[in-house]
Amino acid sequence: MTLLEIFPSLRAAMAPRLDPAVWPITTGHDDRGRIRVGGVALDDIADQYGTPTYVLDEDDVRHRCHAYRTAFPEAEIAYAAKALLIRAVADWVTREGLSLDVCSDGELAVALSAGVDPGRIILHGNAKPAAELRAAVSAGVGRIVVDSHTEIRLLSSLAQRRQKVLVRATPGIDIHGHSAVTTGIDDQKFGFPLTDGHLDAAVRLVLEQPNLELVGLHCHLGSQISDSSLFATAVERIVAQMGRIRREHGVILTHLNLGGGHAVPYLPGDPELDLTGLARVVDDALDDACARNRFPRPALTLEPGRAIVARAGVTLYRVLSIKTVRDGRTFVAVDGGMSDNPRVALYGARYDIAVANRHPTGAHTAMTVVGRHCEAGDVIARDVLLPTDLHPGDVLAVPCTGAYHHSLSSSYNAVGRPPVVAARDGRTRQLIRRETVADLMAREAGL
Ligand SMILES: Cc1ncc(COP(=O)(O)O)c(C=O)c1O
Repeated sequence: MTLLEIFPSLRAAMAPRLDPAVWPITTGHDDRGRIRVGGVALDDIADQYGTPTYVLDEDDVRHRCHAYRTAFPEAEIAYAAKALLIRAVADWVTREGLSLDVCSDGELAVALSAGVDPGRIILHGNAKPAAELRAAVSAGVGRIVVDSHTEIRLLSSLAQRRQKVLVRATPGIDIHGHSAVTTGIDDQKFGFPLTDGHLDAAVRLVLEQPNLELVGLHCHLGSQISDSSLFATAVERIVAQMGRIRREHGVILTHLNLGGGHAVPYLPGDPELDLTGLARVVDDALDDACARNRFPRPALTLEPGRAIVARAGVTLYRVLSIKTVRDGRTFVAVDGGMSDNPRVALYGARYDIAVANRHPTGAHTAMTVVGRHCEAGDVIARDVLLPTDLHPGDVLAVPCTGAYHHSLSSSYNAVGRPPVVAARDGRTRQLIRRETVADLMAREAGL
């Protein structure tokens, strides 16, 4: 008999360290060495709901909301729903005092059906169809961020009463991140550059519309930003524009929306945006810019998405097969892949990964975890350390998969999308059920 068999609690003590920076706050091990989230063994969730499955730690989501409310007691925090929108999530974040930023009529419908106050909803998007604008005005959405001259005219013609709007500005700030998520520079599709009169022409046009009330400016610099000083530069530039708008048009804008993009770590050691530091830097920048431009301090809105939900999510997969190829690389194939996590293929994202159903005690070696889809680029984690005794049937858990996973998922290869299961206080609750082949077939028009 081994020591571990005599003292099972030793397993929990010896279990590999799961970095709290990337795993949900309630992560731990049970006395069999299995990983637990929200008080439930991930292995049990895999058995009950099948794999792949997205697990969501409700306490983690609420904890992130609370951290924002504490760091920014006077600012409006509008959760960017594109990161993950499910009715339950809309309910949790709004109960924690957050507003909601939506970017389609679909997201708007989910938010409204969760009972979110339309006055606390902000609608975004670089190309909003007429039906979407119509749905937003008839729901009474609080603010709409306008992004083109056509849209400004269209919205004015659709508005049933004076609609509050912000103009999306492009402050010319390069976050030096992935080009797909760099949105503060002039050469991309969002917003109006501050240069060459683009922003001014949009502001003028809004002010000419009888049904629109210009209340502020909005910008979003991009995603995964860990340097707070970039937000200070944005404040400086946007408040300077607000000062100019007052001088030239006699209008005092009262809202400054700085967007989201706050960095979270995906791997141990990755940088993270420090909220307390951000609060201080933005506060100082607002003081300076308002004093310099003799402009009254506008109300501040931040729109974090990833920073609210990324770390709450863990994706579970079951190992289907393991093979080693000629150069010695070992491929571990699982039952999900790029349909539930396209971020590796899209952005070259990297992930931590762990065996969830047992405590692996033996040697570990580098392996590459791949999906089941028909592309060689269908990779989940490259060169990660996994136990040499890994075998088909083992459950793998990938942390930091709460943001832009369910919302970016597809049914590629006619593989249905995974369920989303919330875990809290030792209980699970299915928030979204698994998409079945019957669901996919139901969209077919027939022969
Ligand atoms: C306008 C706007 N606000 C907020 C966000 C949220 O970004 P993140 O999830 O990186 O915080 C995005 C993301 O694309 C966005 O476009």
